[in-house]
Amino acid sequence: MKILITGFAGFIGFHAAREFLRRGWEVVGIDNFNDYYSVKLKRDRAAVLEALPGFSARELDICDLEGLRGAFAAEKPDVVLNLAAQPGVRYCIDHPFVYQKTNIEGFLNVLECCRHAAKVPKLVFASSSSVYGGNKKMPFEESDKVDTPISLYAATKKANELMAHTYSHLYGMQTIGLRLFTVYGAWYRPDMALSLFADAMLHGRPIKVFNNGDMLRDFTYVDDIVDGIVRVVESNALPAYDIFNIGNHRSEKLLDVINVLANSLGVEPKMEMLPMQAGDVYATYASIEKLNKAVGYEPKTTIREGIPVFAKWYREYHGL
Ligand SMILES: NC(=O)c1ccc[n+]([C@@H]2O[C@H](COP(=O)([O-])OP(=O)(O)OC[C@H]3O[C@@H](n4cnc5c(N)ncnc54)[C@H](O)[C@@H]3O)[C@@H](O)[C@H]2O)c1
Repeated sequence: MKILITGFAGFIGFHAAREFLRRGWEVVGIDNFNDYYSVKLKRDRAAVLEALPGFSARELDICDLEGLRGAFAAEKPDVVLNLAAQPGVRYCIDHPFVYQKTNIEGFLNVLECCRHAAKVPKLVFASSSSVYGGNKKMPFEESDKVDTPISLYAATKKANELMAHTYSHLYGMQTIGLRLFTVYGAWYRPDMALSLFADAMLHGRPIKVFNNGDMLRDFTYVDDIVDGIVRVVESNALPAYDIFNIGNHRSEKLLDVINVLANSLGVEPKMEMLPMQAGDVYATYASIEKLNKAVGYEPKTTIREGIPVFAKWYREYHGL
């Protein structure tokens, strides 16, 4: 079986590609290696994958419809895992059009290429917990109303869910959306809070703590996310269209997370308390019952187990 992973040089794409290769899949990766964050980190992840048998890569932008059509025609994947996106709930305030381009137009290209493929692949795509916006009812369930996003990023992810539903309905394609909840682990994205905290802590700078640290996040270790993705990809029992949360079902206090990280790095954190940022939500907390019932998903990793793995990788990769 062959899986085509868009955004393979990204944090989650890298881990997912590695796991699918380990399970005997042939993996084709697509990525445009954009400079939203360190291109070197993306190239380093890609180099690890390129050394593994069964992997091949194409440097390609999903907004390049002709290029993408060519890749689909040549590769004929059984499954497409769409992870390529412009992420970040804050970056969209100053860069809205990147979101429109990659997350809407690029995603439409992926849908179109799936639709017109000789053998239509199953499409599994990354949505986000951010679609729950400022919802107060916890934990977040897939049946909750998600019509009030509070960032453009969230709006594009919700749009992806709607677009995928339309394609399933009109063309009988199987499309499954996964609402990922704050993922972390080794080979992490440098723009995420844990990385920013680690960098500041290791350089003796104060960390910027928004809403005075009064925030709750369902932090999910990347191996658990990948386990959920694999279960969805390999299941033959899912409907033509569905949406699932993939989280940890543990909503952690931000200050506890900071303490676990500081302990893992062996430093005393200095904190600069700041107000809430636009686009940020107060709390995220995933109900994972639906995915558990559908494919037996059960996350295993607590932040006390997962954060030390991230901290060790961070020190080693950055030579700190
Ligand atoms: N990391 C999280 O906590 C989290 C949470 C919810 C949802 N998600 C979603 O999961 C997916 C993967 O996230 P990640 O954390 O690995 O992000 P990432 O930025 O590390 O990975 C995305 C990859 O896609 C590539 N890419 C971006 N635009 C592209 C384009 N137009 N064409 C081709 N490649 C392109 C980037 O170069 C990057 O390598 C994204 O869709 C993201 O929105 C992530």
